[in-house]
Amino acid sequence: MSLHWSLWIMFLVVLNLGITLFLFLWGTRVHIPTRDDGTTGHVWAHGTLREGVRKLPGWWYWMSASTFVIGIGYLVLYPGFGAYDGILDWSSRAQLEQAQARNEERLGPVMEQARTQAPSELASDADAVRIGGRLFQDNCAACHGLDARGRTAIGAPDLLDDHWVHGGDEDTILDSIREGRGGVMPAWGFLGYGRVKNLAHYVRSLSGQSHDTAAAAVGREHFSTCAGCHGPDGTGNPAMGAPDLTDEAWMYGGELEQIIASIRDGRQGEMPPWKDRLDEARIRLITAWILSNGPSY
Ligand code: HEC
Ligand code: HEC
Repeated sequence: MSLHWSLWIMFLVVLNLGITLFLFLWGTRVHIPTRDDGTTGHVWAHGTLREGVRKLPGWWYWMSASTFVIGIGYLVLYPGFGAYDGILDWSSRAQLEQAQARNEERLGPVMEQARTQAPSELASDADAVRIGGRLFQDNCAACHGLDARGRTAIGAPDLLDDHWVHGGDEDTILDSIREGRGGVMPAWGFLGYGRVKNLAHYVRSLSGQSHDTAAAAVGREHFSTCAGCHGPDGTGNPAMGAPDLTDEAWMYGGELEQIIASIRDGRQGEMPPWKDRLDEARIRLITAWILSNGPSY
């Protein structure tokens, strides 16, 4: 703090304390003209209220007096009076640094272990899993949901079921998080609404959901256009990020309307890469939390 600001703040502190102290002392001494009936003669609210004159209650007087003593004591002990540091030499920055150092010391062993250990092993360590859950909450829940059950509105998949778009073994999950993921499903709206709807009925038939049999049979004929990515039987292709259409797990939802929208408009889900934002230890801790089936936080 420059000398200029320091002096300015000291001036304001002295001025404020001075004014309040003066009002306090003056207020206890000043004589208010009082009538015989114990009022000032002031009449309020069209004659319903009259202003009385009473001595300040003792408790109020002493409480106010002690706030001055406490205030001045505070300025002696702690920073507040310009650039003066206070005799306790306390600072919020030093307190933060101490707290961070204590945190590092506490987390150190877990982080050291997490940097190299396989997430499947970390998953049996309750501390590691709890930290992983916290990290998931902070970084991933916005898209995948606090319960990690996914959000069909943005195509963020459920991470706790047994169905994976890109793969569910620990190395693939680690890769998904480090490098990010995306998939491009082209838009087929140009086929016309009828064909898109038939395809949607066929897609629903693949996972055994209710569907119009006649429409599905026609849709099936057009599915060869889709087979290049989703496979001839619709079971998907992790290498292309094309999801399995025969299971009950849906990135964008399995209702007829949602499937029609997926086919008509196409889908381009995007999961951002995390390797520059989270270190390896933290990525492994989150993976451990996912593998341990994301228990409570
Ligand atoms: C901006 C939204 C968003 C955030 C934040 C996000 N994800 Fe994702 N994630 C997605 C989307 C969308 C996909 C599907 C990508 C695709 O289209 O293939 C996905 C896919 C994944 C997959 C692959 C799932 C599978 O079935 O193969 C994993 C694993 C994953 N995310 C984990 C995480 C973790 C862990 C975090 C936090 C570090 C995270 N995600 C943060 C949106 C997000
Ligand atoms: C070029 C490859 C490709 C082709 C061809 C393709 N898809 Fe896809 N499809 C994808 C990918 C990749 C996704 C996932 C999109 C994402 O990651 O956001 C997807 C997603 C979907 C979904 C959403 C699934 C869910 O879980 O919500 C449906 C439904 C679908 N495709 C149906 C079809 C149908 C029907 C056809 C044929 C008309 C087709 N796809 C052709 C690659 C393809």
